[in-house]
Amino acid sequence: MAFGRVPREFIDDLLVRADVVEVINARVPLKKKGREYTACCPFHNEKTPSFTVSPSKQFYHCFGCGVHGSALSFLMEYEHLDFIEAIESLADSLGIPVPREQSGKGPSQAQLQRAKNLFTLLEDANKYYQLQLKSAPNAIEYLNNRELSQKIIQRFNIGYAPVGWDNILKTFSNSYSEQQLIDSGLVIQKEENNKKYDRYRDRIMFPIRNRKGQVVGFGGRVLGDEKPKYINSPETTVFHKGSELYGFYEARLNTQKLDRIIVVEGYMDVIALAQFGVSYAVATLGTATTSDHLKQLFRAVPEVIFCFDGDRAGREAAWRALENAIPMTQDGKEIRFLFLPDGEDPDTQIRKIGKDAFEAAYDQATSLTAYFIEKLNERFNITSDEGKARFLGEASKHLKNMPDTLIKDQLLARLAKLTNVGIKTLSRRDLINNEKRSEPSLSFSRLSNREVRQTPIRYAVSLLLSDPTLVKYIDNFEQIALSELPGSDLLTTLIETIQESPQINAAALLERWRNTEFEAPLIHLMKWQPETDDEDVLRCELQDCLRQIRKRANEIKIEEMIHKARTTGLNDQETEEYAFLLRNRD
Ligand code: CTP
Ligand code: MN
Repeated sequence: MAFGRVPREFIDDLLVRADVVEVINARVPLKKKGREYTACCPFHNEKTPSFTVSPSKQFYHCFGCGVHGSALSFLMEYEHLDFIEAIESLADSLGIPVPREQSGKGPSQAQLQRAKNLFTLLEDANKYYQLQLKSAPNAIEYLNNRELSQKIIQRFNIGYAPVGWDNILKTFSNSYSEQQLIDSGLVIQKEENNKKYDRYRDRIMFPIRNRKGQVVGFGGRVLGDEKPKYINSPETTVFHKGSELYGFYEARLNTQKLDRIIVVEGYMDVIALAQFGVSYAVATLGTATTSDHLKQLFRAVPEVIFCFDGDRAGREAAWRALENAIPMTQDGKEIRFLFLPDGEDPDTQIRKIGKDAFEAAYDQATSLTAYFIEKLNERFNITSDEGKARFLGEASKHLKNMPDTLIKDQLLARLAKLTNVGIKTLSRRDLINNEKRSEPSLSFSRLSNREVRQTPIRYAVSLLLSDPTLVKYIDNFEQIALSELPGSDLLTTLIETIQESPQINAAALLERWRNTEFEAPLIHLMKWQPETDDEDVLRCELQDCLRQIRKRANEIKIEEMIHKARTTGLNDQETEEYAFLLRNRD
């Protein structure tokens, strides 16, 4: 359930008012070192400090594990908050209320009211189902047969939807409208004749809670062998399968220190694991794991283990999970795959071998890279040239979606070794991004200029990030905007954004592009710090960059014209333009 958007200007302003040094120092004591602050990184184990905070950029970066970001990112990572919660926490510490947009993309006040009622309705229904369980001997017997303890039935608020077509309709018709009952997914309306009836009848009910603990939907299981075995709530305004995880809320609530999460397939798996002390399992709701799921998991823990049945279906589900996981790989975050023996699911397995043996099996879980190679190896025979080519073709299809990480480097090295193809050749196959990687260095300022200077566009972006007010020295950048030089779109957007919000700082700029294609290059360029604060020097450098960019854009245009002149020929206007370009060539 999304509330009104937090206005972008508010986030900018918040990041200007907050001080990243103060925010971090309150949680991880920092030491001043030159123009920056350092500490041992709170996100990985280390003995010598490589975690660096830049007060001028309002940005932190760990040269050991690669974490980085603004005061907001820090709160998200360190306190496991989502973006909005981090905004609220930061605003709260400064004593500023968080405004919400009323119109536009966010829901209206009326929609919010309705959603609120849906939450209360779903919570009421949850209580109702739990109460019904008490007077349903057959349902109690079913749960006994599945050996669920009383404690665990209560922890997961398991209930029972009684036999009959209109229990919910009748019970809640006084307090909620029929439309609300339909909107909640509890009641179905037939299209043909508008007849309404309860969705869940004679089923064990598992309430699904969102991360705030609000009931957003249900899963319902038959007591016998009828089909379908499970019915889940439909997508509603408060329930989106692609972003909810069954048991996530309960896992946070009941695990003292959540440092890994195991992802299983079923409701009963989550519950049985919890009963046996593995309180940190979650399940996707009859869908594949989405990147949204993973994003949420990685916000909470550094390690996610997917646990699949050993059968074919389990292996297929694992590959789908891998495909969705590839774009989400991050250094410092681990994804592994655990396969159970054929015929077992986590529910049966933990009952058979107990908590300790179950957890000991994590050591045998396959890493994402190993599983990736293993699967490709199964499919292609790399002893033949043709097989090798197809193997690499398939690998590159997936690797293109993988961010530039150490994990990717390792994977490339393994692929190179396996296929006897040099890393250089692999990279020509587009296996790695075109971006040149930087060697880790120990401070922002020690990253050499040359490294960022590779192109004038990158250098200009770095200069603007280090001091956005330099934008006042830029005029006439249409030519740059129109050029198709790599990075010109980033530079143009950056210039326009700073012109619109002259007070903005680097951290707020970065927040603007969170989760977009610009995020990674911005972070990369953010690490560099000019060696001087002297505005005159910086202005000259920036203007020099712009001159070079214009020149390059000009050259490209001239080359195009020459090509055109040789092939299709130039019309009058183009001839004139060509002459103009040549005159302005310096
Ligand atoms: N599932 C579903 N709809 C179905 C069948 C399954 O949504 N018709 C989802 C449920 O989330 C279920 C999971 O897939 O928990 C795994 O299904 P399955 O392996 O068939 O069942 P189990 O979890 O083993 O359920 P049980 O142990 O209760 O038989
Ligand atoms: Mn099962």
